[in-house]
Amino acid sequence: MTTATTPRPFWLAGRAAAGEGTLEVTSPWDGATVGAVGVPSRAQTEEAVAAAADVAHAFAATPAHVRAAALDHVVRRLGERAEEIARLITAENGKPIMWARVEVSRCVSVFRWAADEARRFNGGTAQRLDADAGGTGRLALTRRFPYGPVLGIAPFNFPLNLCAHKVAPALAAGVPIILKPAPATPLSALLLGDLLAETDLPAGAFSVLPVPNDEMPALVRDPRLPVISFTGSVPVGWSIRDSVPRKRVTLELGGNGAAVVLADYASDADLDWAARRIATFSNYQAGQSCISVQRVIADAAVHDRLVPRLVTAVEGLVTGDPSDDATEVGPLIDENAARRVETWVNEARDAGARVLTGGTRDGASLRPTVLDGVPRDAKVSCEEVFGPVLSVSRVEGEQEAFAAANDSAFGLQAGLFTHDIQAAFRAHRALEVGGVVVGDVPSYRADQMPYGGVKDSGVGREGVRFAMEDYTYERVMVLTGLDL
Ligand code: SIN
Repeated sequence: MTTATTPRPFWLAGRAAAGEGTLEVTSPWDGATVGAVGVPSRAQTEEAVAAAADVAHAFAATPAHVRAAALDHVVRRLGERAEEIARLITAENGKPIMWARVEVSRCVSVFRWAADEARRFNGGTAQRLDADAGGTGRLALTRRFPYGPVLGIAPFNFPLNLCAHKVAPALAAGVPIILKPAPATPLSALLLGDLLAETDLPAGAFSVLPVPNDEMPALVRDPRLPVISFTGSVPVGWSIRDSVPRKRVTLELGGNGAAVVLADYASDADLDWAARRIATFSNYQAGQSCISVQRVIADAAVHDRLVPRLVTAVEGLVTGDPSDDATEVGPLIDENAARRVETWVNEARDAGARVLTGGTRDGASLRPTVLDGVPRDAKVSCEEVFGPVLSVSRVEGEQEAFAAANDSAFGLQAGLFTHDIQAAFRAHRALEVGGVVVGDVPSYRADQMPYGGVKDSGVGREGVRFAMEDYTYERVMVLTGLDL
């Protein structure tokens, strides 16, 4: 691991570069120095952007097998270095090692999918045009081409895998990418850069630049970066989109995920399962996932039997040092984040909510918290908590449950606990979200499926092939005079 005295280089157009400034990375758990990274100067950032623009056409034309081989290499190296990488994620992000290991294995999956998609992407489609007389002897051949280099802006909560979701599809589609990691967690992104640097990707195909946040508006506006893929907070995301309305902008923003438990999900085994899953996934990564469970909407028929199970399951979670194998819930990203969540819990309590468990803070760690009777306008209910806090509410029947789930500015994913397949289809129709997970929490994400939200939760979709489509557009070539 890098020490504070030797800033780690960043990746500038495929080569390691020392920066002008230094960014220190500290552990959210104990404040220990985890490392330091060089910060690029404006001239270095300019060099990376120019290199991305210069290589864009040549990179788009690289054979699929070359891009796939580079992605396969990353798959192999992630596997070989999995434990070291997981430990790095835990050190800089504070997420328990059990979740960091899951993140690494998901990252392997993202790159594996990207290698596969690189091989099959852009076969194109042919369409005969002679349905009208004017099109006689004509054929339209449609293929996808990149808009141009991507600016990927990644958050701290999955410091490796949410970088992978920007980088791997870009490289698979032959699109150069400039990746900007979160200031709190640049080390995992730079390690990903190490693995990419071992490949034969052309110079300029990737840069990993820990650019300071206050220099980002200029980069966002740079016309040589026509695509922006941002994962992060709601206000920053939408302000990016508003500042560059003509660019292609993908936003993966917040959520306040609902888990709906319908009346038929009523056996002891059902409620035990729902309680365990909700407890785990409202608190994994200390709730710092856009699809963690924030709201439980329980039918009155099961509410009173579910809630005590939920409280028991939440109280049974192992909290503490994220580097311990047994720890399930660690600190938030920093003490300020934990203080904010604590304030929101106190506001809800002052407004009449009951704290069934938790609600106390120690430094950056907040005890897993369950609230009942939360007023609908309390921040813990209507905003994104991004902390280990769950609000439970009681509803009468399916329609009220779906209306409660939709009573949100967000629309990312929802979980639906039911055995009724017709109810599942009704939910799929009724819920205003990017994904409905039946029989489980909203927090389930397979990395190849389309992922993204509606309403304030964002626009566009990730999930390898879907991001490749977002980074490229259809261009038609009409062939004439053919003997069809
Ligand atoms: C997110 O927080 O948006 C990502 C969730 C995930 O990839 O599981």
